Amino acid sequence: MIRLDGKQTSVALKNEIAEEVAKRKEQGLKQPHLAAILVGNNGASETYVANKVKACKEVGFKSSLIRYETSVSEEELLSRIDKINQDQDIDGLIVQLPLPDHISEEKVTERINPNKDVDGFHPQNMGRLALGSPCYVSATPHGIMELISRYNIETSGKKCVVIGRSNIVGRPMSILMSQKGIDATVTLCHSRTVGLKEICLEADIIIAALGKAEFLKADMVKEGATIIDVGITRVPSDKTKSGWKLLGDVDFENVAPKCSFITPVPGGVGPMTIASLLYNTLMSAKNEIY
Ligand code: GUN
Repeated sequence: MIRLDGKQTSVALKNEIAEEVAKRKEQGLKQPHLAAILVGNNGASETYVANKVKACKEVGFKSSLIRYETSVSEEELLSRIDKINQDQDIDGLIVQLPLPDHISEEKVTERINPNKDVDGFHPQNMGRLALGSPCYVSATPHGIMELISRYNIETSGKKCVVIGRSNIVGRPMSILMSQKGIDATVTLCHSRTVGLKEICLEADIIIAALGKAEFLKADMVKEGATIIDVGITRVPSDKTKSGWKLLGDVDFENVAPKCSFITPVPGGVGPMTIASLLYNTLMSAKNEIY
């Protein structure tokens, strides 16, 4: 069994990005610049955004964190997005989700200039992905594809089961795994799927992205399968300093011995997500299309 080390792989990807940033600097080109909008004080979102800002520093990007109280109006948020859309110095803009109930995530996502949409959530970017000529692939699916490619995991003709149909992970993953050049045969499963265990038992590759801690058990996995775990659920723990620990969607301890490859949680998909966001931001800076 080989652990897919997202931490180490993300460092390699970040080093490649940092090298390009340094080269750009030598050529007198501007630093890539990521702007992140955070509304309210959701604990998980705070951590994610702080990690994104920190990662920008590591690779030599400029970053701007724009914070709003939960009470901010949709109108104010949208007008800030309009301003950033026009700011020539900013290459990438993300609005951390979830947003408070009175703000439409759909409206916000659609307002972001697709050329700065480094999260890849805009319908134009999702549409391009579906049509087979992606511009910005959203960060988690992009990170998973990097892991699969850098570990030379065979995908052609393989049976791939994706569990979870979210717009952020499951659905784009199902598209990417079936695209030309990757050539897996994909089954996209969800909460209404009948016979999930039997479907999983046939799979060469399982991508678990349903958000239920330790959902995928050893009796659902075929010997030699590759398992990609996208889940991160915080559960209380008296064994850690912070008082909580992270669990994936996979019962790692019991599933791992059956696998050929598996991602741990933490240290698997998570670090790749942030590195991929940086990758998209660098791409935007290189394209210089605003
Ligand atoms: N919330 C959870 N994941 C993400 C992400 O990748 N981007 C944004 N903007 N919000 C998120």
